[in-house]
Amino acid sequence: MRIAVVTGASSGIGKEFVKQIANRYRTLDEIWVLARRTERLLELAEEIKSVKIRCFSCDLTDKRRFVKYKNALKKYNPSIRILVNAAGYGIIGTFRELKEEDNVGMVELNCTALTRMIDISLPYMSKKQANIINMASSAAFLPQPSFAVYAASKSYVLSLSQALNQELKKRRITVTAVCPGPVDTEFFDIAEVYNSVKVYKKLFRANACDVVSLALKDAYHKKAVSVYGFSMKGFRLLTKLLPHGFMVKFIK
Ligand SMILES: NC(=O)c1ccc[n+]([C@@H]2O[C@H](COP(=O)([O-])OP(=O)(O)OC[C@H]3O[C@@H](n4cnc5c(N)ncnc54)[C@H](OP(=O)(O)O)[C@@H]3O)[C@@H](O)[C@H]2O)c1
Repeated sequence: MRIAVVTGASSGIGKEFVKQIANRYRTLDEIWVLARRTERLLELAEEIKSVKIRCFSCDLTDKRRFVKYKNALKKYNPSIRILVNAAGYGIIGTFRELKEEDNVGMVELNCTALTRMIDISLPYMSKKQANIINMASSAAFLPQPSFAVYAASKSYVLSLSQALNQELKKRRITVTAVCPGPVDTEFFDIAEVYNSVKVYKKLFRANACDVVSLALKDAYHKKAVSVYGFSMKGFRLLTKLLPHGFMVKFIK
């Protein structure tokens, strides 16, 4: 059985990945989707007609909730063609403004759960050619005061992805870190719970459809990093050229 696995599939970028993978990868037997909101996953399963969607409702920050996914892997012994780690969130505010569960929660989902998903899924990745696509962010390029834990968690994702991409080459597995700027999704409902996002960030929100389309193209072409849009490509270049200690003073 050939499958794709997508976390964070109940909304935004993860959901868009499921739709585009279902359209592009016609040889898949199933797409396995993971998130907490069961009804959203079931709605998605109804909507997608071209391939069977298997739903796993689970809180990925709870280690025990991985059991169903692990058992399904053991039972069906599938060949995973694509693993997309899209589950994640960020909350705007200084470290002190955020609660302990906010700061630690971001690390648990954005870093620990993503690492666990890769660890559990890796033995089942296709032997011929496979892709791991990890949602990082342009926030990964530079430390960000008032978004500190989120930016640090995404730096982890970027660094891990680039290193694994090298390590897994022999196994014909490509690991791609996707690093968009702001994308128009429900992300900001959670991000803005204490503080509003800056106006300029609201003006430059990309479309999830375009970000995902480029990410799948870049992953197919074995790129280690996928950056959507000229402004974010320019921002990445600046973070490579200028000292971070200097740039961080201007990041708000
Ligand atoms: N939107 C942006 O501006 C932007 C920019 C750069 C990077 N990203 C990254 O892109 C990824 C997707 O974000 P998005 O924009 O699509 O946001 P979103 O619409 O809020 O989607 C987040 C997804 O994560 C899932 N999730 C959250 N907590 C979870 C938990 N404890 N266990 C399992 N699933 C959980 C949510 O599902 P449930 O609530 O149903 O569990 C949802 O499906 C994230 O990693 C985010 O950091 C977003």
